[in-house]
Amino acid sequence: MSDVIVVIGAGQIGQAIARRVGVGKRVLLADMKRENAQAAAEVLADAGYETHVATVDVASRDAVQALVATATGLGEVTGLIHAAGVSPSQASPETILKVDLYGTALVLDLFGEVIARDGSGVVIASQSGHRLPPLPEEQSHALATTPTEDLLALPFLAPDQVTDPLKAYQLSKRGNSLRVAAQAVRWGRRGARINAISPGIVMTPLARDELSGPRGAGYRKMIEGSAAGRAGTPDEVGAVGALLMGPDGGFITGSDILMDGGVTAAWLYGDLAKG
Ligand SMILES: NC(=O)c1ccc[n+]([C@@H]2O[C@H](COP(=O)([O-])OP(=O)(O)OC[C@H]3O[C@@H](n4cnc5c(N)ncnc54)[C@H](O)[C@@H]3O)[C@@H](O)[C@H]2O)c1
Repeated sequence: MSDVIVVIGAGQIGQAIARRVGVGKRVLLADMKRENAQAAAEVLADAGYETHVATVDVASRDAVQALVATATGLGEVTGLIHAAGVSPSQASPETILKVDLYGTALVLDLFGEVIARDGSGVVIASQSGHRLPPLPEEQSHALATTPTEDLLALPFLAPDQVTDPLKAYQLSKRGNSLRVAAQAVRWGRRGARINAISPGIVMTPLARDELSGPRGAGYRKMIEGSAAGRAGTPDEVGAVGALLMGPDGGFITGSDILMDGGVTAAWLYGDLAKG
């Protein structure tokens, strides 16, 4: 039976990881915008990969379930790359919570039912989740463990509590990291691993929207004030994804790797520190 690598969100980061882990496997590229999945599939097919395309809205249970059926119809799902998402400049707080928080929880639940023994997955969270101040313990626990269909009904996620898209994004991305840790227990029972990567600013269409959006000046300041002094590239995230998903990452599960060129460090202790 063929090995299948499922890429949800066929953007730059998803593609970069797929190039590293998809050699000799069936790569199923799924995106809400079919044209994005199709375009990624053509580039990868021209580079020697076997590609397949699907449409999915991760905020829809039926759609994610249908994607699971498509993937298992192609072979054994040995890899999951969850790189779909919307950023604060692209959507309302409600949509961000639905896609980035609920959608990720759904993907982890449903692919966690079919992931192969020795399989592994990565979820692209964000540095934003690391800059949200600590949450009360009960809120962290709730983000990690609340049944997926009840997540968006948590009182601290109510529309009158989360009115700012950046806050919705930070909560969603913190939620991704917590959810990955909780799901690593369940995935571990199947002999599989799941981790998160929290990138800083990585040059993609999503980052371009942020840099040219209302928070653009703040993002440019972050880049200038960081140790790296530059934005990251999708290929650098691809390298970490390959480590986490490959044999060298065999002892890593339930983790969240922050890779932000030192922005969070500068935020806490360097030029970006407040006060
Ligand atoms: N680029 C950055 O600076 C950066 C930093 C930190 C985290 N991230 C995260 O990385 C992930 C990938 O982003 P990217 O930078 O590669 O952006 P991208 O715009 O290149 O790709 C994102 C893809 O997700 C798809 N998508 C959006 N909503 C969807 C939905 N409901 N269902 C299915 N697909 C959907 C889009 O159509 C797009 O193809 C996102 O979760 C983002 O939050 C990006």
